[in-house]
Amino acid sequence: MDKSEIIIGCDHAAFAMKEKIKERLNELGIMVQDVGTFSEESVNYPDFGAKVASSVASGAYSRGILLCGTGIGMSIVANRFPGVRATLCNDLFSAKMARAHNDSNLLVLGGRVIGDVLAMEILDTWLTTPFEGGRHQVRLDKIDQARSAEEAIPRTEQ
Ligand code: RB5
Repeated sequence: MDKSEIIIGCDHAAFAMKEKIKERLNELGIMVQDVGTFSEESVNYPDFGAKVASSVASGAYSRGILLCGTGIGMSIVANRFPGVRATLCNDLFSAKMARAHNDSNLLVLGGRVIGDVLAMEILDTWLTTPFEGGRHQVRLDKIDQARSAEEAIPRTEQ
């Protein structure tokens, strides 16, 4: 997976953390495409989530990062885009497993949930942990196949 350039976006609730994440990515020599937001003025997180997630879904970027207050709204938005595996990681174990088992291609952080130090450790873990493949690839393939309404279980007559 090409990690040389990462696309990033946030809402007002996580603007400060996004700036810190960008600094860390720059230190690591990773180029950053920042789609905003660019201040703490209130915005609507789906606008920024869609920009980042669609850019990962299209293949233009192989990895993305999204931040909002909890990380929940951005996760909901991002996982609507085919091929996006957005993982809300507000702890180190989740960051490690999101890569090892879920081949996460979009890291989501909650700027109002965790502090900057933990956020940087989560970022480093997510950047460096390889996907294990094998049985986990089989499961990821099933996620892509499981979108059909034919899977729905009909309600039984009462
Ligand atoms: C903004 O107030 C907040 O709702 C947003 O940052 C995020 O936490 C939504 O899931």
